[in-house]
Amino acid sequence: MQKRNILITGGAGFIGSHVVRLFVNKYPNYNIYNLDKLTYAGNLKNIKDIENAPNYTFLKADIVDANQINNLFEKHQFTDVIHLAAESHVDRSITNPIDFVMTNVVGTVNLLNAAKNLWKNNLSENIFYHVSTDEVYGSLHDGGFFLETTAYDPQSPYSASKASSDHFVRAYHNTYNLRVVLSNCSNNYGPNQFPEKLVPLFINNIRNNKPLPVYGKGENVRDWLYVVDHARAIDDVFHKGRIGETYNIGGFNEWTNIDLIKVICKAMDKKLDRIDGESEKLITYVTDRAGHDLRYAIDAHKIMKELGWEPSLQFEEGIEKTINWYISNEAWMNEVTSGSYQNYYDALYAKR
Ligand code: NAD
Ligand code: DAU
Repeated sequence: MQKRNILITGGAGFIGSHVVRLFVNKYPNYNIYNLDKLTYAGNLKNIKDIENAPNYTFLKADIVDANQINNLFEKHQFTDVIHLAAESHVDRSITNPIDFVMTNVVGTVNLLNAAKNLWKNNLSENIFYHVSTDEVYGSLHDGGFFLETTAYDPQSPYSASKASSDHFVRAYHNTYNLRVVLSNCSNNYGPNQFPEKLVPLFINNIRNNKPLPVYGKGENVRDWLYVVDHARAIDDVFHKGRIGETYNIGGFNEWTNIDLIKVICKAMDKKLDRIDGESEKLITYVTDRAGHDLRYAIDAHKIMKELGWEPSLQFEEGIEKTINWYISNEAWMNEVTSGSYQNYYDALYAKR
């Protein structure tokens, strides 16, 4: 197997930690460098199990700082990049869009420049893999699915910043022949997700008997994929994806928010030995998210046909595993919800 020095950005976050773990364990011959700023969403405990692996190095750095990034490329001679670092929460992007422009757009361009400069004499093997989201395609109102050819129509500051970064990645391929590949994935769920996102937030609130803030009528639809299946897809796209191409990743697993929330409530009642229906009483309808996208749904046939990827878990199994993880990792949850989390929570939900 070819020796590679792979830079994975955002590897202390939710999806990144699963990608780092998979690559460190599956490819002992690769040197994996995990670069992360450790924002509120980054947590080294997410990857504690592999921190002493001989092929793993952690680099604390900010992708917005071009000098720092250029120096790290020079020092470690990265052969490839798998870029996941981002500001990732839509609600935060509504409150503070500029952070999303800086990290998601400027940070991505800094990485592209560093890769372009280091790889300028060797453009035959290196890969710059940009991990993106289905939200760049906008909101589906009349049925149908997002294809790789669907026109971009981002609706939130978060999705606008991700769309912009996708465009820059393609522009560097077109203009400088940088060997890029992209994927756009649907909503992930699973262990280690920061409890600002629907699934872990609601599991934690049910555990603490706190209200479950459902935006609007709970009719919005998301297509849910277990995070380890996304990490497996990233492995496939990195190793087998065609250069210059985009692959949509999704679970063919659509749920309205309210139905999904009811599934979580029922499962939590069982786990916590509560009377069936008790957790549902915590459901509280609150003011809708501004510009709330109605429906996302991915057509994942391209990656399935071309690369042979498919989701490994049925949703019922995935959600059960997820709930079990959060219940048996109470210390993780308590730690990430201490400190500034409470201020964030109060500020966002008090207004609703
Ligand atoms: P996350 O918020 O859990 O993690 C993001 C990580 O990036 C954190 O570890 C954080 O410390 C790091 N980071 C943030 N700003 C940084 C900076 N300036 N420099 C270096 N590191 C920085 O995010 P996630 O949910 O794991 O998402 C990872 C990627 O996957 C993102 O690019 C996101 O757009 C994309 N994505 C997420 C989902 C989803 O459902 N969560 C779905 C599709 C695509
Ligand atoms: O589709 C992929 C995207 O999925 C990723 O690119 C984003 O990084 C990720 O955060 C996620 O975005 P969503 O906005 O869909 O995820 P979130 O968990 O914030 O919300 C899921 C749905 O639940 C959405 O319709 C809003 C609703 N919601 C969310 C929260 C946090 C609520 O009703 N109440 C809540 O408190």
